[in-house]
Amino acid sequence: MKILITGANGMLAKEVREKFEKNNEIIATDVTELDITNEKMVQEVVEKIKPDYIINCAAYTAVDKAEDNYELADKINGDGPANLAKAAKANGAKLVHISTDYVFGGDLDISKDYKEDDSKAPVTAYGKTKLHGEEEIQKNMEEYYIFRTAWLYGIGGNNFVKTMTKLGTTRDEVNVVSDQHGSPTYAKDLAEIIYQAIEKKIPYGIYNATNQGYTTWYEFTKEIFAEQGIGCSVNPVTTEEYIEMMKITQAKRPFNSQLSKEKLLKLGINIPEWKDGLKRYLNEVKENEK
Ligand SMILES: NC(=O)c1ccc[n+]([C@@H]2O[C@H](COP(=O)([O-])OP(=O)(O)OC[C@H]3O[C@@H](n4cnc5c(N)ncnc54)[C@H](O)[C@@H]3O)[C@@H](O)[C@H]2O)c1
Repeated sequence: MKILITGANGMLAKEVREKFEKNNEIIATDVTELDITNEKMVQEVVEKIKPDYIINCAAYTAVDKAEDNYELADKINGDGPANLAKAAKANGAKLVHISTDYVFGGDLDISKDYKEDDSKAPVTAYGKTKLHGEEEIQKNMEEYYIFRTAWLYGIGGNNFVKTMTKLGTTRDEVNVVSDQHGSPTYAKDLAEIIYQAIEKKIPYGIYNATNQGYTTWYEFTKEIFAEQGIGCSVNPVTTEEYIEMMKITQAKRPFNSQLSKEKLLKLGINIPEWKDGLKRYLNEVKENEK
């Protein structure tokens, strides 16, 4: 198959590329080769390449900055997917797009998790722009997959695991938020889910796609340290306490980011546990350091 990857320099894109390039022809583009906000450029490139699939990894992902840069974020996260959907439809291509837990309000009782069709109520500018992108795709085409992920980390990007590892090896203690609940997701595992979905030709539509199991940033940090034998102590703090301590302003994070994967699991998609993903990620980091 011929696959056009957009936002190809990003963290997830790196894994997607690695997974798909073994048996597909990949055309990898980032903003300089294909700016997804440029409708004409998108049409021309898609028409010229005539891909079987477009995998859109391009996004405005700076959650806090998006609060002050709504227009730009919405251009990339809302108008970009609209351009890709129109061009895909016109050229018989299927579209894979990545969305986020932030399309939900995050105030659901912690004993529950979000199903794909639960009502959307994004509280952040970023979440609003990502929901806009989902809606544009649904409006403009039928043959799409939208995978909603969360708490993503991977080799090719700055991420929470890297940050905490660095802090853990240079400090005696760290304060970490313990009232936000979700699933840390290894970008390689998300790329694998996308691969399986395409291979198995699962029905088009929207799917929650994170690693399995739920935790908090606090518990996640403890696991990151335990796996690497880092002795730094981890103090649980509430989001409110953290903001106060750090003297920061930040976009409101959802307390409940737990996404149910029942829909994918029922279709036979294999989804590893988050602890398993973390182990493999840390091994890969170690291998790369050799
Ligand atoms: N990182 C997370 O924790 C997280 C959580 C939930 C969902 N997501 C979603 O997962 C997807 C991948 O995230 P990531 O962390 O790998 O992203 P990233 O920030 O690492 O990469 C995004 C890429 O998009 C490119 N890009 C930006 N504007 C562009 C434009 N106009 N045209 C073409 N390319 C452009 C950037 O240059 C960059 O290479 C995104 O859709 C994101 O919203 C990420």
